[in-house]
Amino acid sequence: CESPSNIALIKYWGKYEPQLPINPSISFTLSNCRTKTSIDYSPRLKAQGKFVFLYDGKTKKSFENKIKEFLDRISSFCPYLENLFLKINSKNTFPHSSGIASSASAFSSLAFCIVSIEKSYNERMTEQIFFNKVSFIARLGSGSASRSISGPSMIWGENEFHSGCSNFFAINYNKQLHKSFKNYQNTILIIDNKIKKLSSSLGHKKMTNHPFLNDRKNQAKKNLKIILNAFSIGDLEAFIKVVEQEAMTLHALMMSSDPPTVLIKSKTLQVIELLKKFREKEKVPVCFTLDAGPNVHILYPEKYKLQVIKFIKEKLVYYCQNELFIEDMVGLGTKLLDSN
Ligand code: DP6
Repeated sequence: CESPSNIALIKYWGKYEPQLPINPSISFTLSNCRTKTSIDYSPRLKAQGKFVFLYDGKTKKSFENKIKEFLDRISSFCPYLENLFLKINSKNTFPHSSGIASSASAFSSLAFCIVSIEKSYNERMTEQIFFNKVSFIARLGSGSASRSISGPSMIWGENEFHSGCSNFFAINYNKQLHKSFKNYQNTILIIDNKIKKLSSSLGHKKMTNHPFLNDRKNQAKKNLKIILNAFSIGDLEAFIKVVEQEAMTLHALMMSSDPPTVLIKSKTLQVIELLKKFREKEKVPVCFTLDAGPNVHILYPEKYKLQVIKFIKEKLVYYCQNELFIEDMVGLGTKLLDSN
């Protein structure tokens, strides 16, 4: 199967066992940054291990431990795995040199394959239960992976503003999405392609005793309410304000953690300044968000694509490592590929 990455608008930052979020989050599901995963499975022989993992056809030791931990974690929810030997093959579609290591696309595609094994033997499993379980299992690999299952947007975490939400899995959010947000674009400027200094897991941990923890929880809830309203009425101005505040808050929380951690680069801030000037001067409703690193995700409606890409090529590409940027847009989530 094939599964995309996603970009959070309200950030999941801070968690407690078993991989449950301290606040609700919402994201756009992406389209071009994807992981393709296949699993060949057979009855497990006594002396055999549980799995082999191949990345692009080759063994990759660094991923093996993570997958072992994941399979142990999901074993009580997928007991059938005990009797199977899995040959897992994975491959990303994003450029090797981009520094994007998407745990979201990797774990959502793996979860989709695993729950598909169950579905093929369980006729009573409805589509809805299937998708909820894929998101639930993906979450146990990486929290944000729970939000890559469907699109164009997914919401994860209990809250009082949208019914049916859960801390255990993400649900699709598309009914109230105003047409201004359809086909939204996400262009990723690669400011630094090195592997992240701080893993997301460590970043989440830093939130546990953070002095601003409670304020952050309240802010995320308030921002979710605003963004859901902006989604339903097409309020781009409110959307831009909240999305940028969320990005800055994520990094402000890390800078004010113990010990302080800086995950952005000066080029990140320079790009943000230029983007804001462009927005004001040209009246283009473009904004930025950040994940737990220096790369800048630029978000904008499809009709401004030519103008924004021209601006990126003329003014921003100079700040990108190897002049690299990736053009992506919202998409519909995980899908099964033809096994032939
Ligand atoms: C900043 O999902 O990578 O991208 O659950 O430990 O695997 P783990 O963390 P991860 O955290 C993502 C953090 C973020 C914000 C977000 O995607 O909501």
